[in-house]
Amino acid sequence: MSPFTVANSIGLSLASAVRQTFVRERPETAARVRFRALRALLLAAIGAAILSTGESAPGAHSRSTQVTWAGDVEPIIIARCVRCHQARGFAPMSLASYHDAKAWASAIRTEVLSARMPPWPAAPGFGDFSNDAHLSATEIELVARWAEGGAPLGTPAVKTTADAPARGESMHIALAPVIAAAVERRVALPLVSDRNRWLSAWTFEPGDRSLVEEATLSVNGVAVGSWTAFDDRIVYPRQVADRISRGAAVGLAIRYRKTSSPVVDRSAITLYFDRKPSRELRHLVAGCGRQAFDRDVELLAVKPVAAAAGDTIEVVAFDSDDAVTPISVVSRYLPEYPVTYRLRTPLHLTRGSRVEIRSSSSGCSAQIDYVDR
Ligand code: HEC
Repeated sequence: MSPFTVANSIGLSLASAVRQTFVRERPETAARVRFRALRALLLAAIGAAILSTGESAPGAHSRSTQVTWAGDVEPIIIARCVRCHQARGFAPMSLASYHDAKAWASAIRTEVLSARMPPWPAAPGFGDFSNDAHLSATEIELVARWAEGGAPLGTPAVKTTADAPARGESMHIALAPVIAAAVERRVALPLVSDRNRWLSAWTFEPGDRSLVEEATLSVNGVAVGSWTAFDDRIVYPRQVADRISRGAAVGLAIRYRKTSSPVVDRSAITLYFDRKPSRELRHLVAGCGRQAFDRDVELLAVKPVAAAAGDTIEVVAFDSDDAVTPISVVSRYLPEYPVTYRLRTPLHLTRGSRVEIRSSSSGCSAQIDYVDR
């Protein structure tokens, strides 16, 4: 069997799997109606489970659960939702305080039970990503029970902030304020280096979260990574860094949502530099089709970009024995969420392996981050 036939048959099976998984995303169809019925059953089952443990049915505001905002739910919402759901955030309403979230308790329950929130474009079951936005089963259950039980506040616990320590030295650059009416803005960062530097992590701090869709960092015109509403700090694995050579031009391209009234955006970026790593991060932008590797590599991340909203886009690896590994499968591409899928475990590809990028329409591409073995 030629590699091509393998590719095509796999393509068919992935696409149909995706279609089944994503019926809920489609307009009013029989499939959607079926999904609704399924969801109703699921909600009923959870309701019954709660009843069977001796708690009362969802009452207007009667407290009937031990699960509280302060004790259980706040940390989940803060970690998983507030990056978008904050005042002037990417999402239309804030969930940042108890008061905000309680008003939305019933909608929150529906959204997490149906897995519509947090949004995450990758089809489940393909690839394992360190930045996967899905809630765990336990988190879903806690949030649902809290909402069912009258959304109680509970007793606030003492807060401890445990921010992961950054490695090496850092450099904070506040960008000049700009009227964010333009769709894209490119800025050169005032980073003049008299020696090689090794970028091990970076964070982008959007001035106006409701407007910034994406910020792409580049070194000498090569994109090295993108920040989206899904990202906190972008940290490379240990002993992996991007080289910023002496005198290199470092730039940032910020993409804004369209806005009717002009808004001033004051964004900032922090770069973290470390010692010379054992492996240098490499970047490749490949168009639709296949790309062969002429040496052993480890794939760390892919960022697929489709031509239009709603397209399917798949990135699949074929090793030199033609064994197939789906890297990321997106059944309905959302341009407002151009996610970089960061592999939890690097994918080892031997010399002669290929990566294929394919989409339901032409004009797709993917950025691939890898290191040499
Ligand atoms: C990456 C950004 C993002 C994250 C993370 C996110 N949301 Fe949202 N959310 C949105 C956007 C954008 C909307 C409005 C458009 C839509 O419904 O898709 C929304 C809408 C909602 C709504 C309103 C749905 C309705 O009834 O119209 C609820 C409730 C919600 N989100 C809950 C959550 C919860 C709970 C979490 C965390 C578990 C979460 N969201 C995480 C972006 C996000």
